[in-house]
Amino acid sequence: MRALIVYHSRTGVTEKLMRAVGEELEHSGHRVEYHKLEPIRPLGYLGACVAALRRREVELKADLPKTLRTHELVVVAGPVQAGRTSAELNTFLNNMPDGIGRRFGVFATMGSGSAEGQMKSIKTRIEKAGGLIVYEDAVRKGVVINSDQLAARARDIAEQLLRPSVW
Ligand SMILES: Cc1cc2nc3c(=O)[nH]c(=O)nc-3n(C[C@H](O)[C@H](O)[C@H](O)COP(=O)(O)O)c2cc1C
Repeated sequence: MRALIVYHSRTGVTEKLMRAVGEELEHSGHRVEYHKLEPIRPLGYLGACVAALRRREVELKADLPKTLRTHELVVVAGPVQAGRTSAELNTFLNNMPDGIGRRFGVFATMGSGSAEGQMKSIKTRIEKAGGLIVYEDAVRKGVVINSDQLAARARDIAEQLLRPSVW
């Protein structure tokens, strides 16, 4: 199976989680590609909060993937910013290529707050693009920066993404 992991990570937490999940998928014999959403002009803390609150998009360094049809599994992940989706992730979600019939895993990382609003907003847009959400998870930064907890969580996430009932 081919998996595409599309993510935004401002300070590296989401990236660390996604790399750990990707490695677990690879250990199970799957092919994993990564697409990092990087802004041309990185936003400061306040700018990122304002952009997230106003549901803005930002200009990204690289073009978005042209199609999702080449991957059976698409993983979408990003940090919670001001309770919402980051502008970088908005750019992908608002302009994503046709996701009809693709299976999606959706992930957020966050501090001590809630990821509920962010997850809902991501899922709505993926479903609108025709995607099928097979697993969602919100992971606290504290778990990601603890290597033992990260390893256990990544294994668990990969198992969930690969569970037979999904395929
Ligand atoms: C601009 C900004 C806004 C944030 N807002 C929230 C928030 O509302 N709730 C929360 O729990 N964490 C919040 N955080 C913490 C991040 O969600 C958390 O550290 C996340 O794991 C960072 O992921 P990243 O390194 O991949 O960007 C915020 C961080 C930043 C930089």
